[in-house]
Amino acid sequence: MNIKMPDNDYSSIMAADRAHVWHHLTQHKTFETIDPPIMIEGKGLRVWDAKGREYLDATSGGVWTVNVGYGRTEIADAVRDQLVRLNFFSGSAGTIPGALFAKQLIEKMPGMSRVYYSNSGSEANEKAYKMVRQIAHNKYGGAKHKILYRDRDYHGTTITALSSVGQIQRRAGYGPFTPGFVEVPHCLEYRSQWQDVEDYGIRAANSIEDVILREGPETVGGLILEPITAGGGAITPPKGYWERVQQICSKYEVLLILDEVVCGMGRTGTWFGYQQYGIQPDIVTMAKGVASGYAAISCTVTTESVFNEFKSDPDDPMSYFRDISTFGGCTAGPAAALENIRIVEEENLLGNCTEMGKYLRGKLDALQNKHDLIGEVRGEGLFYGLELVVERETKTPLSEPLVQGIVSDCLKKSGVLIGAANRSFDGMNNVLFLSPAFIVTPSDIDEIVFAIDSAITRVTAVL
Ligand SMILES: Cc1ncc(COP(=O)(O)O)c(C=O)c1O
Repeated sequence: MNIKMPDNDYSSIMAADRAHVWHHLTQHKTFETIDPPIMIEGKGLRVWDAKGREYLDATSGGVWTVNVGYGRTEIADAVRDQLVRLNFFSGSAGTIPGALFAKQLIEKMPGMSRVYYSNSGSEANEKAYKMVRQIAHNKYGGAKHKILYRDRDYHGTTITALSSVGQIQRRAGYGPFTPGFVEVPHCLEYRSQWQDVEDYGIRAANSIEDVILREGPETVGGLILEPITAGGGAITPPKGYWERVQQICSKYEVLLILDEVVCGMGRTGTWFGYQQYGIQPDIVTMAKGVASGYAAISCTVTTESVFNEFKSDPDDPMSYFRDISTFGGCTAGPAAALENIRIVEEENLLGNCTEMGKYLRGKLDALQNKHDLIGEVRGEGLFYGLELVVERETKTPLSEPLVQGIVSDCLKKSGVLIGAANRSFDGMNNVLFLSPAFIVTPSDIDEIVFAIDSAITRVTAVL
């Protein structure tokens, strides 16, 4: 790992952080004896911390966000110019970047037509839920209000978004939850819930129909799914799954909501993850990579048909979408998103995502051949997961301390940042995550995979 003397003395920053900042998803007791991590600077795929340590970031900012890499001055310039011209106006009015980004986005999403702006993935999903609920009240007397979500998927942190999360450890201790959310089975064949199933994809999709029939189709208005489950284990859909899901949604008039918060804007090599599988959703939500973290922005995108439900009765003063998001009116988000999309197109980053994704897959498959503890390699484009097991036969999950030991070894010994399932499932936080920025090169990938290889060798040597 490269260490350079920091340009400044950050001890006062460290002290202020230690005294006053409450870090996300972190047990703070550890900071009584060790310093909290503080990131200072980034360029391309590299970031530097307050102690001058350099890291190769294979996580795009920890949570699949900085898709075009750090230090993009052109995005910063575009945001600055826009803020000077007009920083904000409530989303009840339009703005130049808001209109231009919506037009460009819709061009990438055949079949979709309207963009509703807000600030986070959780909020984008909440908007989708409110749309389903309002349609249920307007068209079905409130009956068709239930929203189905899938075991292992994640949709956000607010109480209602959390009510639709299929990860037991993320939910634990935060109930009671919002009523009307019902879980359907996951589609991870490696951990199949059914014995000897010939066509697992169809079986998993049919289990959604089973839930609809159990609940009563007249009560189910929406189904939210991640195209590829991200934090829940990098779960790529089994063959036939999506086609059948689409049929089931059409049959029972259930609105299909695709949560593209992680996969959206290119992560899998197509603009949206669902475009890998030929699905036509009713609502699509996105956040993280929309502006690569240069500004906060999320979008809830709908078909014209969903949109029309909210303008069909202008005489009814209650019939339109009575929702607002104050900071959905910030212009920095769409201004940054416009530049982000330009960079992805001009630098052919979707192409690089696909090409480097194949290269990464090859390297990970070779790593699996070398280490028995890699039970399965899953992913698409530049989003991969390695499920770690004690032994392949039994598929017993590797214990969390060992998984974290591998993550920590990569960081400390090689200066490579990788991710892992974090407080999602009891005894099953055993998946490593890789999601480098779209500008990644073969030599970056070699460095990342070498770090994991060495970490696994070191950590397993003590078993
Ligand atoms: C698939 C998915 N949906 C929604 C969210 C929530 O997004 P946010 O943290 O911006 O609210 C996340 C966050 O990790 C996510 O992974």
